[in-house]
Amino acid sequence: MVCLGNICRSPLADGILRKKVANAGLSIEVDSAGTAGYHVGSAPDNRMQATGKSFGYPINDLRARQFEVADYDNFDLIYVMDKSNQDNVFNLARTQEDRSKVRMILNESHPGKDLEVPDPYYGGDQGFVDVFNLLDEATDVIINQLSNK
Ligand code: 4NP
Repeated sequence: MVCLGNICRSPLADGILRKKVANAGLSIEVDSAGTAGYHVGSAPDNRMQATGKSFGYPINDLRARQFEVADYDNFDLIYVMDKSNQDNVFNLARTQEDRSKVRMILNESHPGKDLEVPDPYYGGDQGFVDVFNLLDEATDVIINQLSNK
């Protein structure tokens, strides 16, 4: 799961999918990263921690890290939150195989629309709940796909 800072959207996506993977009894590694390095080592934004916890997905233990080329080797699927994240991870892709791992996450729940998960960082509390609902819906589709593999 990849966003810009790895303190708002992608840690929540990570926390939600991690729990759904565990609940499904699957053994799949879920992780998240940011394309920027500003917040490396930081816990998720307090507002996103509160939102995750309120819906049953605590994410306080996660720590931000920066997306790196090795992530293309270590992961089979790379979900980005918006087009700018996608441009940034594509810039680090070495091969067509790397590029083929990258998906806009809302295309799972809204195929072909290229919708973006809005960055809630500079907005109000409702923005965080909106992000939760979008990511909950998208990760439901993803967990169904992973369960049927
Ligand atoms: P995220 O949100 O990409 O969802 O983690 C952001 C967090 C921090 C900043 C930008 C986006 N920032 O510029 O510090």
